[in-house]
Amino acid sequence: MTNEIKLDRRFFMKGASAAALLGSVLSTSKALAQDSGHMMSMSMDYNLDDEYNRIGFNNAKWDMIIAQNPDVEVKYPMGVADMDFKTLPQVTRALRKRLMHENWGYELPPVDYKDNIVAWNKERYNQDIPKDNIVNCIGVLDGVLSILKAFNPGKSKVLIHTPGYSGFFSVIHEAQVMEVENPLKKVNGRYQMDYDLMEKQLDADNIKILLFCNPQNPIGNCWTANEMRKMGDICNKRGILVIADEIHCDFVNKHAKYVPYASIGKEYAMNSFTLKSASKSFNLAAHRTAYMFSDNKEYMDRVVASGHQRGLLNIMGLIASNEAYKHGAKYMDDMQDYMDANAHFLEKTCKDRIPLIKYKVHEGTYLTWLDCSALAKKIGAKAEAEKQTASSGKDVTVGDVLNKWFLKEAGVNVNAGEHYGKNGVGYMRMNLGTTRKKLSDALTSIENATKAL
Ligand SMILES: Cc1ncc(COP(=O)(O)O)c(C=O)c1O
Repeated sequence: MTNEIKLDRRFFMKGASAAALLGSVLSTSKALAQDSGHMMSMSMDYNLDDEYNRIGFNNAKWDMIIAQNPDVEVKYPMGVADMDFKTLPQVTRALRKRLMHENWGYELPPVDYKDNIVAWNKERYNQDIPKDNIVNCIGVLDGVLSILKAFNPGKSKVLIHTPGYSGFFSVIHEAQVMEVENPLKKVNGRYQMDYDLMEKQLDADNIKILLFCNPQNPIGNCWTANEMRKMGDICNKRGILVIADEIHCDFVNKHAKYVPYASIGKEYAMNSFTLKSASKSFNLAAHRTAYMFSDNKEYMDRVVASGHQRGLLNIMGLIASNEAYKHGAKYMDDMQDYMDANAHFLEKTCKDRIPLIKYKVHEGTYLTWLDCSALAKKIGAKAEAEKQTASSGKDVTVGDVLNKWFLKEAGVNVNAGEHYGKNGVGYMRMNLGTTRKKLSDALTSIENATKAL
């Protein structure tokens, strides 16, 4: 164990009746992990079982959802895609140091900022990112928006695989273009791309861009090199630009592998952009700091020339991301172990105790895509949605009814499947980025609610 890691552990445990707390939470995790039939790695350097209160900082996952649902007690918000863990200690230390300098004049990014982006991706994924082609973004969607505007001047359409990230619909609309949904097909429990349909849609419609997600939120696929080559060939042949949103790439469950789209061959790298950030991985989303790159220098120049000028981002975000990539490898390894165990725990709990919800351990992201169709049927969600639509004049979906049921009966917030495309009906998205204890309590609450039906 390095000195740095020893320091981290001290930092984490400082002031927290350390030994007793660590002993008790580790044994809780161990018990829960064993209960799930999936032995958690016990070589963790970071105490991810640490429970602390996020309420009161105006955050979207807790405070916003609680404020939006005043008539229920939201005990387990498992919607918005961030996590309930403290960030890497070095991040907090570096931010504190910078804060104490007490001057906020113009400032350049840390000198090694881009080197650490390159090193992180090389060391973890053997991906060669062209350092000179890295461009800052105020979040991944900010970069996607700039690319859409720069490469869609003729107001053509954008293809997306669905179920797909809800933010894709919004950003496409912000760019004043329209999406075309390419529904993924579920084959033996895993979603697959429909290449024939993709070809037909690209030939028939005025589509110029594929907005792609790897690993894919919300279904959790880590796309294989073969799958992506087949998709990339279809696009390259027709001059369709690929935008690869790989913001979730640091979350990969044990049986899966993340392959960067830009790493599968030069021709794919030359006809694509990739967008990433340390924000999901280290809980830094509030810092609004991300980056994009392409092997194709002309593509990068075109985006910048179209008005994407982000040389200087907020310095705190740049420092935070830099420290995370510089010192965060073990934290991320621990996080992956923890998320993998959370996913196994969820799978076993659904199978043994909540048969109305179906879930199989996914590949990447900390988001899960729960098949709640049996539950929807049991609570009569379709008829209720139709009734509410007729009486309110608003479009109330099965997912809306399920969302309210989870909130009211179990205190759990999960996202309606329809947010992710037309084929999301009957599914709900649950965020596993929380402690095992909260996950366990939330599932017990859901179990009790289903037993009462
Ligand atoms: C796939 C995907 N892309 C982008 C984002 C948003 O990223 P940012 O906040 O950096 O714009 C999210 C957030 O949930 C996401 O899941």
